[in-house]
Amino acid sequence: MTAIDTATTTPTIPAVKASGVGKTFPTKGGDVVALTGVELEVAAGEFVSLIGPSGCGKSTLLRLIADLDEASTGILEIFGKPARKARLDQDYGIAFQQSGLLPWRSVGANIALPLELHGVSAADRSARVSELAELVGLTDFVDRYPDQLSGGMQQRVAIARALAEHPRLLLMDEPFGALDEMTREYLQSELARIAAETGAAVVFVTHSIPEAVFLSDRVVVMSPRPGRITDVIETGLGTNRAEALRESPEYFAKVTEVREALHGAPVERANER
Ligand SMILES: Nc1ncnc2c1ncn2[C@@H]1O[C@H](COP(=O)(O)OP(=O)(O)OP(=O)(O)O)[C@@H](O)[C@H]1O
Ligand SMILES: [Mg+2]
Repeated sequence: MTAIDTATTTPTIPAVKASGVGKTFPTKGGDVVALTGVELEVAAGEFVSLIGPSGCGKSTLLRLIADLDEASTGILEIFGKPARKARLDQDYGIAFQQSGLLPWRSVGANIALPLELHGVSAADRSARVSELAELVGLTDFVDRYPDQLSGGMQQRVAIARALAEHPRLLLMDEPFGALDEMTREYLQSELARIAAETGAAVVFVTHSIPEAVFLSDRVVVMSPRPGRITDVIETGLGTNRAEALRESPEYFAKVTEVREALHGAPVERANER
């Protein structure tokens, strides 16, 4: 790429670019190859889910992107920067399965935490907390404490906190894994709306095929031993993630496609043989 290209194509720099990424954990019982040969690009503003059986390296990949761990091989770039630089520049927000809220802080104070840590003034913090609380539908709850909220509400606080510094990238590891199905579907719709409104790219780890399809532009299918990407499925479902989508034939077709990719060959039906 020439210098001019770099200057003029800034908006097209991918949010995440993994080239030949591998991760091996040395353990007492020998090396565990958690990931190998991962090639993945997530465009700015794109929603990508990682799906695959337990142990296939989804969390490991997310942790490498977040610079919570270091790749053994390959190169990871976040908005064209090394993962470490992106972390220091606060280019992304993180939300994991456990909301990780501080129980002694109110909802508002939890959302404000990253802003506080980075020296944002009290007035600016307060304005941003109001904005974020509205975005996740918790305006009436900013003075409550986490243990006074339902699990779904706690996750919404965690999402608000992850968005506090206007990240261009959100990294989410099974954020709705512990929730009941109704709350989960509701938060999926909310997340789709929030991602569209903020224009943030999202890398989203899940075990749920319908969840991956409903939310994503692309679903990345992984398989274990060693953890690698085996398929990438474009959903092509457009930008409108309305509830009705869940009952559409296009949606069912994609759910089936992802299921078949996860299970290898199409499921054979005995009565058709
Ligand atoms: N710190 C570590 N030390 C040793 N092995 C590890 C470590 N972290 C992960 N692993 C191994 O790497 C592999 C991938 O783990 P990872 O947590 O990424 O899987 P996952 O796809 O997120 O699984 P799950 O769906 O159960 O969350 C597993 O075999 C796991 O045992
Ligand atoms: Mg995991």
